[in-house]
Amino acid sequence: MQQNGHGLLSDKKGVIFGALNDQSIAWAIAEAAHREGAQFALSNAPVARRLGSVDQLAEQCSSPLIWADATSDDDLQKLFDELKETYGTIDFIVHAIGMGVNVRKDRPYEDLNYDWYLKTLNISAVSLHRIVHHAIASEAMADNGSVVTISYIGAQRIFSKYSEMGDAKALLESIVRSWGYRLGKRGIRINAISQSPTKTTAGSGISGFDAMYDFAEQLSPLGNADAASCADYTVSLLSDFTRAVTMQTLFHDGGFSSMGISDGLVEAMHDVWGKNSDEG
Ligand SMILES: NC(=O)c1ccc[n+]([C@@H]2O[C@H](COP(=O)([O-])OP(=O)(O)OC[C@H]3O[C@@H](n4cnc5c(N)ncnc54)[C@H](O)[C@@H]3O)[C@@H](O)[C@H]2O)c1
Repeated sequence: MQQNGHGLLSDKKGVIFGALNDQSIAWAIAEAAHREGAQFALSNAPVARRLGSVDQLAEQCSSPLIWADATSDDDLQKLFDELKETYGTIDFIVHAIGMGVNVRKDRPYEDLNYDWYLKTLNISAVSLHRIVHHAIASEAMADNGSVVTISYIGAQRIFSKYSEMGDAKALLESIVRSWGYRLGKRGIRINAISQSPTKTTAGSGISGFDAMYDFAEQLSPLGNADAASCADYTVSLLSDFTRAVTMQTLFHDGGFSSMGISDGLVEAMHDVWGKNSDEG
């Protein structure tokens, strides 16, 4: 883990969405960005004021805290106006927002409540479109900036318990590409980090999360990537070192996405299913 900063973001200003508590991926990103010398505001939905402890993080990072529902155009317009007043322009945006409403309420994929489904897509994916739209429309975003969002491999492959969130992440990754094409002419890049299962409030809201976590931990040669290492990777994407990387889904998963099966899992399956698994 990086202890001391290297000033990688010392000339950068930005905004980080989605830090709820010290388990949040965005919380770790804020700590790493602060360590690397960035100045940034923090934002979360007004309801998070009651549920989380982001004010503590704001104090730690000397960050203004702007409450905004990422599904509200009014809130986002005000947020970017405020950011302009504070910083002039910003160089980076981190979007680490997600919620699966049907998943949380244990509603199966075959019988989705469509109002909840639309809410899931709105919060978890359309919010990225909305945030970038308002950043550009308000002229708060500087040329050559960087936008990072956090995705999951369930966007591309079926993880049965991930349910509607797979659709939300597929849309999220598509929005990354669609905006990336359009932002390129100003040198602004946008990427998704496809992160390992991570023990956070959003993560543990998924029933079957522990199995997904353990399976990935077993299969990945480097084990699951934790929030702190995701934060270090994010710093690299916000820095000028990655100025020619855009429109990508970048796996940050300890190698999980390149694996099929491992010796450890073959042995574990043998233990569970007996010798039939070798004969079959
Ligand atoms: N935890 C995992 O296993 C994992 C793996 C891959 C990707 N991700 C993604 O990482 C991102 C961050 O999630 P996390 O795991 O750190 O959990 P988290 O619960 O700490 O963060 C989710 C955040 O979304 C915010 N949010 C929800 N609705 C909002 C709204 N309407 N407006 C503004 N903010 C809103 C929450 O308040 C919270 O801060 C999410 O996109 C999640 O899907 C998580």
